[in-house]
Amino acid sequence: MQRPILTAVIGASLALAVCGAPAQDKLKVGFMLPYTGTYAALGTAIENGFRLYVQESGGKLGGRQIEYFKVDDESDPSKATDNVNRLIKRDQVDVLVGTVHSGVAMAMAKAVRESNTLLIVPNAGADAVTGSMCAPNIFRTSFSNWQPAYAMGQVAAERKHKTAVTITWKYAAGDESVAGFKEAFEKGGGKVLKELTVPFPNVEFQALLTEIAATKPDIVYSFFAGGGAVKFVKDYADAGLNKSIPLYGPGFLTDGTLDAQGDAAQGMLTTLHYADNLNTPRDKAFRLSYVKAYKLQPDVYAVQGYDAAQLLGVGMSAVKGDFTKRDDMIAAMEKARIDSPRGPFSLGKSHNPVQDIYLRKVEGKENRLVGVAVKGLADPGRGCRM
Ligand code: BEZ
Repeated sequence: MQRPILTAVIGASLALAVCGAPAQDKLKVGFMLPYTGTYAALGTAIENGFRLYVQESGGKLGGRQIEYFKVDDESDPSKATDNVNRLIKRDQVDVLVGTVHSGVAMAMAKAVRESNTLLIVPNAGADAVTGSMCAPNIFRTSFSNWQPAYAMGQVAAERKHKTAVTITWKYAAGDESVAGFKEAFEKGGGKVLKELTVPFPNVEFQALLTEIAATKPDIVYSFFAGGGAVKFVKDYADAGLNKSIPLYGPGFLTDGTLDAQGDAAQGMLTTLHYADNLNTPRDKAFRLSYVKAYKLQPDVYAVQGYDAAQLLGVGMSAVKGDFTKRDDMIAAMEKARIDSPRGPFSLGKSHNPVQDIYLRKVEGKENRLVGVAVKGLADPGRGCRM
């Protein structure tokens, strides 16, 4: 009866002596992203970026192999709690990576505050995620809705525009983007005349374009992204408005969309934490690697996914793959300086990137760098008590 136990103990000791450490299970990463609907391309780009960094790191983070799980959240907040629980409870993932839509992200943040699952947000800008809902286990590698919007409000005021009409989808991202723009634009002497909205993800803009033409503001500020941004920018040009009223917005209006927008987007100015011709060695290497892997040009969403993997990699390396050392891992992630294709960034106290916001101009198929609109912009993290 003793012999099998003894053999097992000797076997395990031998394995340890040969390998140096017990074999660890794979780290379970759950992607909760949109793979259908108006934000489908954004979800795919984020996953591509994340996987690319892992591949470049030999398929491992902190020495641990990765096992992926996926849920299509359809950018639908009403399904978000069920969807996130599929990954947390059914698949028992270690880390959640998601999502694109601010409303869905807030449901994810609520769920992980309860389950204590580690969450890395690779896009959704909902201010609350790193504001009133901030938590030690919630990180973001993208932006807050306030950041690029505030920068554009500043740019518009500096360009001496006096009046603006805003137009966006009626949900957290649109509302917060407009609020950020308005804060800086009005501080700089401008006035927002009207705030127009359509329900998400509707793309029927004609009545509102007629209202803009009748109001005759100096500029229009707009938040749309993905398929909706393609339709809006084209409709705006088809209505002839781009000839008389410049269309401004955060870079989501023209990022990953220029093939489809064609002439309609030419000359547009937007603000974002990425541009297509940064020409740094880091960005050039990333773009080359992305094109080689996916036969596609990367966009800001791919960068944010790539950086989500980089941030997780920092945490995992700090604990040599031992995910149970959560406090040490979080401490390392908080201190991380991410060598991003966008330029290096660190995280603020509420776990949101402190980063340069660029002014870009559409030329051909590129969002080309005009300059830095605001250097090292930190989200105010309103309501965060960490
Ligand atoms: C958002 O819902 O936060 C969002 C979606 C697409 C692009 C940018 C922000």
